[in-house]
Amino acid sequence: MLKGKKILLGITASIAAYKSAVLVRLLKKAGADVKVIMTPSTRDFIAPLTLSTLSKNPVHIDLFDNDTWANHVMLGRWADLMVIAPLSCNSLSKMANGICDNMLLAVYLSATCPVVVAPAMDEDMWCHPSTQNNLNKIQSYGNFIIPVDNGELASGLVGPGRMAEPENILKWLECYFNKSQDLKGKKVIITAGPTQESIDPVRFISNHSSGKMGIALAEECLKRGAEVTMICGPISSVIDKKIKIIKIKSAAEMFDSCIQEFKNADIAILSAAVADYTVESPSIKKIKKSEQELVLKLSKTKDILKRLGEMKSSNQLVVGFALETDHEKENALLKLKSKNADFIVLNSLNEEGVGFGLDTNKITIFDKTGKEYPFNTKSKNEVAVDIINTIIN
Ligand code: CTP
Repeated sequence: MLKGKKILLGITASIAAYKSAVLVRLLKKAGADVKVIMTPSTRDFIAPLTLSTLSKNPVHIDLFDNDTWANHVMLGRWADLMVIAPLSCNSLSKMANGICDNMLLAVYLSATCPVVVAPAMDEDMWCHPSTQNNLNKIQSYGNFIIPVDNGELASGLVGPGRMAEPENILKWLECYFNKSQDLKGKKVIITAGPTQESIDPVRFISNHSSGKMGIALAEECLKRGAEVTMICGPISSVIDKKIKIIKIKSAAEMFDSCIQEFKNADIAILSAAVADYTVESPSIKKIKKSEQELVLKLSKTKDILKRLGEMKSSNQLVVGFALETDHEKENALLKLKSKNADFIVLNSLNEEGVGFGLDTNKITIFDKTGKEYPFNTKSKNEVAVDIINTIIN
């Protein structure tokens, strides 16, 4: 599974560091060659002796040891993958800002291998906007993030912030190495986020879509070797630079870009919340308030999914989404058929953990034959894995 893979495990100062011993054991059992680096204060949380014994390699902590310089460059070049687990709030912020005041950060900054992090911190620290910005930043540098778990935290509070369990980190790594290139040579286009339909130069009609599901899908496809183009409405998240981004505002602009990009695409995944209606004659000047009621005439937008469903050739796949509040299955199957999609991913707004802006989702996928694939509530990153696996299988 991980036989012969060279894994560099970075451990930072967090209570979850005690789980790193289990992770080293699991990695060794799976056949990996493991080297460990710790930040100096991690010594307060777990003994280097434990980790050197389990990894069967010396643990690296200091950049200078008895007047000798430790070669951090070679460690980052030795590894097939660097895993930082747990990643503390402090080290995350240093990674986001290029600070290099210890051995682990020097190795991270000079690493030529992919880097994946498993953050761990208390709920309020996790939810703080600076932490979320730092996560977005390191993701935009091309690092992978293993989502935190919800549960009891060191403070006694219950919420998001727990480091993923070592077993799940191992699973992530196995998935990464085993599937890594199954979309190589494929071009995938993904729509994401809301559209904005202008009323006048300062107002528009839009919706609550955050684009998070589309971003998770784009990153999963990228990880698996695809050439990815995202056609997205206004969203605030930072997106990996390796993804080509076409920014649009209106449903009409999204339609035009999709038609253009689909011509040489293999897969189209339409996760955007596209406006079904647009303002028929938006005002060129700002509409002034008056005593009368304001009536806006809306006209229908073009259905992108339907159009791509009509256009697709036998070696192109089209995947749509259906966000429903009632008669979920019926409506999803209707959309699958009427839009000639190969798959429909159903989200029901009645399910817990489903909704705009949330980090979780619960989906059911239907394939062309109507076969149903139900999934549990998961992080949007995990949902993206389920969707891509289902399409590929
Ligand atoms: N979609 C699209 N173009 C549109 C409207 C929707 O490509 N103009 C796509 C969405 O991206 C999604 C799927 O169609 O993949 C279903 O969108 P949804 O809003 O759930 O359904 P609609 O077809 O718009 O029908 P309704 O809003 O009545 O449920």
